[in-house]
Amino acid sequence: MYIIAINGSHRKGKNTAILLNALLAEAADLGATTELLELTDYNIKLCRSCNKCMGRNQCSITDDDMPAIGEKLLAADGIVLGSPAYWANVTTLMKNFMDRTRYLHVTRNMLAGKVGAAVTNAGLRNGGQEAALRIMTFFMSAQGLTLVDARNQNKPIMSDGVAGSLLADVKEGKAIWRKSVEEDEAAMLAARQLGRNMVELIRSLSK
Ligand SMILES: Cc1cc2nc3c(=O)[nH]c(=O)nc-3n(C[C@H](O)[C@H](O)[C@H](O)COP(=O)(O)O)c2cc1C
Repeated sequence: MYIIAINGSHRKGKNTAILLNALLAEAADLGATTELLELTDYNIKLCRSCNKCMGRNQCSITDDDMPAIGEKLLAADGIVLGSPAYWANVTTLMKNFMDRTRYLHVTRNMLAGKVGAAVTNAGLRNGGQEAALRIMTFFMSAQGLTLVDARNQNKPIMSDGVAGSLLADVKEGKAIWRKSVEEDEAAMLAARQLGRNMVELIRSLSK
């Protein structure tokens, strides 16, 4: 079982990566082969909107890193998208990645049947995390993935996605900031649960 996480954060190894790594570590403990792909490491050109992908499931841009990333997506059993909220949206890197996967979807959903999950974090509470999650889950369901959530039936404290925040609280008008999302226990717990749920769903779908 191979699970790939795509990090759209413009900062490698920071909060979004911390959540993705927690998810992947849990999945690896359960036997999955995992990989974290930091989009900042790759050269992905902008979609030219040439529409040549229509009718042939191929992108006309072949001289960048997207064909290799596409092969990894096709090989994966599970795909996790991670992006911080930027203006209650995904980052430019994540959006560009999504645009360039159009060839995997436009005539036939080549990623259909894989399991998908999304992870986000933001500076503020209610800072656009839910919007960023919805954008990523909409994308994955349009691509034909089966979405998995972070719920644990025995601990009804988690909602469907993983949404961290750096603002912990406000006391007497003063903001209390977390040093990193690692101090957001609810988000870390949800990330690990999402890793477990993902492995379980992939196993049950492959039976
Ligand atoms: C361009 C930009 C836009 C941002 N927009 C928001 C926002 O809409 N809401 C919010 O709460 N935080 C926003 N932030 C803060 C990031 O979501 C936050 O710093 C996040 O933890 C960054 O994740 P990273 O550590 O993986 O880079 C923004 C940051 C940047 C650079």
